[in-house]
Amino acid sequence: MEKTDEMRINQTGTDKSVTDRTGADPAYAKLLKCCETVRRWTDFKPKVAIVLGSGLGDYAEQIRVETEIAYSVIEGFPVSTVPGHAGRFIFGFVDEVPVVCMKGRVHYYEGYPISDVVLPVRLMKLLGAEILFLTNAAGGVNTTFHAGDLMMIRDHISVFAPNPLVGTNIDELGVRFPDMSTVYDKELQEVIVKAARENQIYLQEGVYAQLTGPSFESPAEIRMLRGMGVDAVGMSTVVEAIAANHMGMKICGISCISNLAAGMTAKPLTHEEVQEAADMAAPNFKKLLTESVKKMVAL
Ligand code: HPA
Repeated sequence: MEKTDEMRINQTGTDKSVTDRTGADPAYAKLLKCCETVRRWTDFKPKVAIVLGSGLGDYAEQIRVETEIAYSVIEGFPVSTVPGHAGRFIFGFVDEVPVVCMKGRVHYYEGYPISDVVLPVRLMKLLGAEILFLTNAAGGVNTTFHAGDLMMIRDHISVFAPNPLVGTNIDELGVRFPDMSTVYDKELQEVIVKAARENQIYLQEGVYAQLTGPSFESPAEIRMLRGMGVDAVGMSTVVEAIAANHMGMKICGISCISNLAAGMTAKPLTHEEVQEAADMAAPNFKKLLTESVKKMVAL
């Protein structure tokens, strides 16, 4: 059945002026408006979109920067409230590869609608990025992991986080029922494994689960996750991967294991400790990111 404007408005309960102007879903209208604003500042076309997690905030130092755009100048763009997540897009080159890098991301636990949480990833795809490189700090659930390990994400568990595709499907972005059997691209995984091997960086591999946070998990929840086959747990990444997969991006991801998850050590978890551990692992994390992205020039 054809969707009429009236039906869209009734489904989403949004203000008619937004739908009327573009004839689109409000989340899509907002996305297009953000894209238009960025395009007023730069015509840079990135190949790889990089989302920087905790500990990687100063990764911009590895980039030959062309231009930077503060999120705050993009009307409607979600701006993080978490200390250490100050936000801007950095456009430039890692070696010969054109990249856009997100310094700072918003998390669902900050109270943003899930469509806002995934808006930045969608925007980077509209700006031209074909590859999405997700990074985060995560708690190690696998008992063989240590704080400071890097883990390449092989697959994820999304059932504890809201699905960003709930609601009217934005047909312009992708299909209603996207396949999820290979979210993390095999070829990109090979690139990362090769980069790690060539640079003697020890690399774990595994399944990442996103929970909403902001509270850390309980020991019982960690035991449950381990039983489900989860290797690392965090509060980001999966919803972004779902939105990017919907749009047909090639996706890869690395978690920095900043701590062993709740109940695995005697110590209580604090945000500061997670941040400190992520900072300590940062040199290897940055090296692996740079060496992997360099190899993506050939893809
Ligand atoms: N749990 C959830 N998110 C996290 C953790 C954790 O232990 N460490 C870093 N981010």
